[in-house]
Formats: sequence, C-alpha cells, structure tokens
Amino acid sequence: MKKKIKEKMLKKAKKAIENAYVPYSKFPLSAALLTKEGKIFTGVNIENASYSLTNCAERTAIFKAVSEGYKDFEALLLYGKHKKIITPCGACRQVINEFGDDIEVIMVNKNDEEVTKTSYELLPGAFRQEDMDNEL
Ligand code: THU
Repeated sequence: MKKKIKEKMLKKAKKAIENAYVPYSKFPLSAALLTKEGKIFTGVNIENASYSLTNCAERTAIFKAVSEGYKDFEALLLYGKHKKIITPCGACRQVINEFGDDIEVIMVNKNDEEVTKTSYELLPGAFRQEDMDNEL
C-alpha cells in the first residue's frame, strides 16, 4: 500500500465520520474502501431505533461499492475517533472475506496509530462460496 493512497483514504475517512448516524451508541466509525481500480468508497455506521438493524461502517462502504459495480478490493481502512484501535466486528469480517482473503484491513485510531491485518487473518476459516460446492 502506497503511503500517499493510505493518507488519502484516511483523509476521506476523517471527513466521512462526521456523517455517522449514531444517536444511540454515540460511537462514530467510518471506513474507506480502496478498489483495485483506485476508487475509494467511504462508509459510516448507521444506527436504528430497532438496534439490531444498525449497519456498520465497513459494510456500508462495501455495499456502496458493490452496488456501484465494484467488487475487487485492495484495502479497507477503519477509522475511529478513540484512543483504542477498533477492529471490525464478526459480521463485517465475514462480509469483507466474501470479496477476498488478502484485502488489507488498516485500523486507525484518533492519534493516527494503525494496525494492519489481512482479511483472512481477521477471520481464518471464513465461510466461502467454495464451501457450498460440496455435493449432497
Ligand atoms: N460498528 C461498526 O460500524 N463497525 C464495527 O466493525 C464495529 C461496530 C458500529 C455499530 C454501532 O453503530 C457502533 O459501532 C457501536 O457498536
């Protein structure tokens, strides 16, 4: 991952986080998703009064990209405004893995400290399309 591109992703994530819809948790997060074509899609968490309907920042970014015709992803940056570096929830790990096992997942905190893992490192043994290939 080129430093310049990562900086661009972080800049977009920092702008996008202001749109997080978090009236219940007051815990804004944002994501910036880099496609292999070099396009960046952002996403934020979007909560709901029916709590379980909340959509995480990572899935918002992925669903935006896929619905626009992009599904080859290079990296996903997850940004939180807290001291702790936030990692993707289990549901998001599964969704990220749907699109590849070597997507770079960069997690960044408020001090721009970061940790990077691949999608597969975050969810070894993720359920895959090929797991459905078995004959009955
Ligand atoms: N959240 C995300 O957006 N992504 C994650 O991977 C973890 C959790 C959101 C959901 C909810 O709006 C808030 O963080 C607190 O759980």
